[in-house]
Amino acid sequence: MDRKSLEALLDDMSIEEKVMQLVQIPGSEYLAEAEITGIERGRVEENVKKLAGSTLGIWGSKNLREIQDRYIKEHPHHIPLMFMLDVIHGHKTVFPCPLGQGASFDPERTKKGATVQAREAAADGVHVTFSPMSDLCRDARWGRIMESTGEDKYLNSLMASAMVEGYQGDDLTDPEHLAACVKHFAAYGAAEGGRDYNNTELSEHTLREHYLRAYGEAIKKDPAMVMTSFNSVNGIPATGNQFLMRKILREEFGFKGVLISDWGAVGELINHGFAEDKKDAAYRAMMAGVDIDMCSGCYSEQLEELVETGAVSMKMLDEAVLRVLNMKNDLGLFEDPYRGIVSDAGPVITEESRRLAREAVAASLVLLENNDKTLPLGKGKTSFIGPYADTKKLQSSWAFSGEDDNTVTVWEAAKEVYEPDSIKVAAGCTMLDQDAMTARGIRHTDQWQEENDRLLAEAVQTAEWADTVVLCLGEDFAQSGEAASKASLKLPAVQLKLLKEIKKTGKRIVTLIFTGRPLELDEVKELSDALMICWLPGTEGGHGVMDVVSGKISPSGRLPVSFPYTVGQEPLHYDMYPTGRPKPASGPSEFTSRYLDCENGALYPFGYGLSYTSFEYGEPKLSASEMTSEDTLTASVSIRNTGDVPGDVTVQMYIRDVCASRVRPVRELAGFRKIHLNPGEEKAVSFVIKEEMLRFWTAEEKWASEPGRFNVWLCDGSTKGRALEFSLK
Ligand code: BGC
Repeated sequence: MDRKSLEALLDDMSIEEKVMQLVQIPGSEYLAEAEITGIERGRVEENVKKLAGSTLGIWGSKNLREIQDRYIKEHPHHIPLMFMLDVIHGHKTVFPCPLGQGASFDPERTKKGATVQAREAAADGVHVTFSPMSDLCRDARWGRIMESTGEDKYLNSLMASAMVEGYQGDDLTDPEHLAACVKHFAAYGAAEGGRDYNNTELSEHTLREHYLRAYGEAIKKDPAMVMTSFNSVNGIPATGNQFLMRKILREEFGFKGVLISDWGAVGELINHGFAEDKKDAAYRAMMAGVDIDMCSGCYSEQLEELVETGAVSMKMLDEAVLRVLNMKNDLGLFEDPYRGIVSDAGPVITEESRRLAREAVAASLVLLENNDKTLPLGKGKTSFIGPYADTKKLQSSWAFSGEDDNTVTVWEAAKEVYEPDSIKVAAGCTMLDQDAMTARGIRHTDQWQEENDRLLAEAVQTAEWADTVVLCLGEDFAQSGEAASKASLKLPAVQLKLLKEIKKTGKRIVTLIFTGRPLELDEVKELSDALMICWLPGTEGGHGVMDVVSGKISPSGRLPVSFPYTVGQEPLHYDMYPTGRPKPASGPSEFTSRYLDCENGALYPFGYGLSYTSFEYGEPKLSASEMTSEDTLTASVSIRNTGDVPGDVTVQMYIRDVCASRVRPVRELAGFRKIHLNPGEEKAVSFVIKEEMLRFWTAEEKWASEPGRFNVWLCDGSTKGRALEFSLK
């Protein structure tokens, strides 16, 4: 539809119809009674159902086609309904959770994965995905760290941009793509104490330089939608925050698309103590520029009256509605309201999507320890033990449209690689402790103790038979994600006990950790010969993990988040600001900035990861020792594979502004390159340093670089390398 026709349509709509374009209701409202499981029903009145502009949380080609059909017929202007869904790291083919994707340091791979997700979800009738989650996250206690690509603004920016490009493709009318939604604007990841939905207090420079960066970069890729966050930022809830939404998002970032609230967040302005009642909440959200109210009912109940009394102008209403109509138009919904749907059967998982997912898993694994080359697994007898050894629950709590039946377990994949009489399997223990709590409540097992006694005895026997034990441990998938904050970062006690008992058998132990967040692994490290992080790897989890464990592929992941010694260090991140009392590298450290009982830094820092081969970095070089804002510098280094197997290495460039009008982080990632090297092969890698990379939010409250000295490192991890120096004139 052309712009004129769209405006004519808007002119012809009643106020009620207009308001309802800004209303989103749960998809369960459109489902037949029999299809609803566990979702409250019947809160939405019939006329809202008839007119609401969008819905969420449902999928299925046949179902959505029928719902759309009915809806359009009943709508006075036959405007199609928009279907939205959280397609976070997979629809049918589930890729590694976003944190795992961060570990691959490979945005191109993530983009390909997003393309597969879009194709599958679009074929199931979905139009919009609530992804990428671009929240910077420095706190492992926050359950939603699993949905982020980590603690670094630069890495997150590339990943979020890649996701937007992958979901949306070149043209939104292409029925194999989805509209993307950058969320949660803003600073949701900075929740105090790591407790979900909690407030955030951030200085403007930290907000701008770190927390806003990935949203801003992703918005440059033109996502159709942005979502507000639940939290308040410096005392003003995001969903009513005019500074964030009007000034930063619209004015500075130039975002032209639709702004949607998070679920119920408009109504939550009342709980925040920021709005008197639903009318006030609707008013404040509109003033902040929130176009769609997701499921709070405030707009559907109050907005019409606010417009009629003139509190909200017709102009403001029209602008918001036009943005929503535009989005529907950009998706091609007026021409084809069933866009994407090819058959009633919906999408199928193809060999190609499985292959991409499998490769994505292998690329996401981070090898933390490998004493005496324990990995890759040699011949000999191996027992796969632990609650993750043979479970299909390898997806996260945000991959609810992916079916467990399609998932390949570690054990299933192991059977494809090894002779049947050389491997055994045992669960070893339950996934959770007896009183463990997940996002959905406490999961008690009545016979918990008895069951664990039996499982442990069986596991010890299975271990005794073997030469090597591959212990598959981790957090339950429902212990990370929304509303899954934790004050402990230890493995479940029952799993630690299993590890200790297996250790007593004296067998070599390879510990694989499945997790959506960094965990405390100090003790696990001591008890293991090899240790590898496998995240929540998804549909092809077993295959991807076994490709690495068996040595078919050398591990190449790097940590996208710091793994602490202890939870007491959180929030923990590598790009800290310096202090006036830095702890010296050696010698007396009294009265310096440190813990009495723990290191300052991470047990495993950002950017860390091992390979089956070894890499030697040559002398890093700078093309000159000075630069101006008109020219550039080149930093280069050559890397050689000095081991005997091929492998990928991620060369990282970090920069520090040594002295500035506002303190600058001790290091900041400014570039990385993943390269493949065969044994004995050497390659040179170079990075161009430009003045714009040196800008920050100065003491004068503006983006600028300042002349002076800078350090640069070319290395394999945020604590490694030797600093070179240059100056900006
Ligand atoms: C989450 C969002 C999600 C939305 C819709 C909310 O609870 O915070 O990330 O997109 O629900 O499912």
